[in-house]
Amino acid sequence: MDRTQKMSGRACGKLILFGEHAVVHGYPAVVAGLPRGATAAVAAASEHQLTLVNGRNGERIARARPTEDTQLGKSFAAILSKFQMALPINVNVTIDIPVGAGLGSSAAMATAAARAVATFAGMTDNLAVIESAVHESEAIFHGSPSGIDAAAALGGGAFKFQREGEGSSIEAIWVDPVRIVICEAGPPADTKEMVKKVTDFYHSRQNAVGSVFALIAELADEAAPALAEGDWQRVGDLMNINHGALVALGVSTPALDSACHIARQAGAYGAKLTGSGGGGCVFALTDDRTDDVLAAWKDMGYSGFEITIP
Ligand code: MEV
Repeated sequence: MDRTQKMSGRACGKLILFGEHAVVHGYPAVVAGLPRGATAAVAAASEHQLTLVNGRNGERIARARPTEDTQLGKSFAAILSKFQMALPINVNVTIDIPVGAGLGSSAAMATAAARAVATFAGMTDNLAVIESAVHESEAIFHGSPSGIDAAAALGGGAFKFQREGEGSSIEAIWVDPVRIVICEAGPPADTKEMVKKVTDFYHSRQNAVGSVFALIAELADEAAPALAEGDWQRVGDLMNINHGALVALGVSTPALDSACHIARQAGAYGAKLTGSGGGGCVFALTDDRTDDVLAAWKDMGYSGFEITIP
């Protein structure tokens, strides 16, 4: 292995359009890979070290060694354990999306890092190893994740996802490019805690919470063809209902609700929280109404940014 060699890997963040939380319990969800995410660079070093950098302001978010008893340290150890490394390495991951905000930053980080390490170790064509490194890292950050974030980080595009036993089914959805705005309305939230909260609620109110999950599944089923047809008003209506279902599950906050209301009043087709909730991001389907929604958010003190999916 050449000591001066530098290798890189990329991965996208994700936007759950429909079905978060219910997806953990085996119901279908719809997700789109984001055009932004994480980029990793690997080079030989004197000891193993992983550094996370915020690509939006250049600040260091965290640094870890694989021996450290932290989530990042354990994730780095899990990734390294999949590859035969002849030399210690330095992995630098730049993240271009808000962290801990429901946009799949941990899966994007692990995927970009695993891809770069695989290239460094000469194992790029071993996709199963890269996937297993990402799944192990996600389990460290999220406990028992559905796998939807990892699937989006690894594959990108828009697709319907359903957990099936230990695996999952994935069905691509061909969506015409459409403009979406995202705002970080709440503080970062802990996905592991939010998933536990909803799972406990499900166990204590199986019928009622099961009915909410079934409603969310219907929305995801109807949304997939609506997205493929470019029927934005139908997609937006379904998003608004999905947000209401997430409120019923107890994962929204006043700030997330307010960001959704402002976006709808400014003309968005629909708006909902995305990811685990408890804070984090809201997104609105805006297309030709993008500038109005961004301006309305700005007036109310929310800063948003625009992306195009898929
Ligand atoms: C987190 O991005 C989405 C959740 O549904 C958890 C998961 O699917 O693993 C809340």
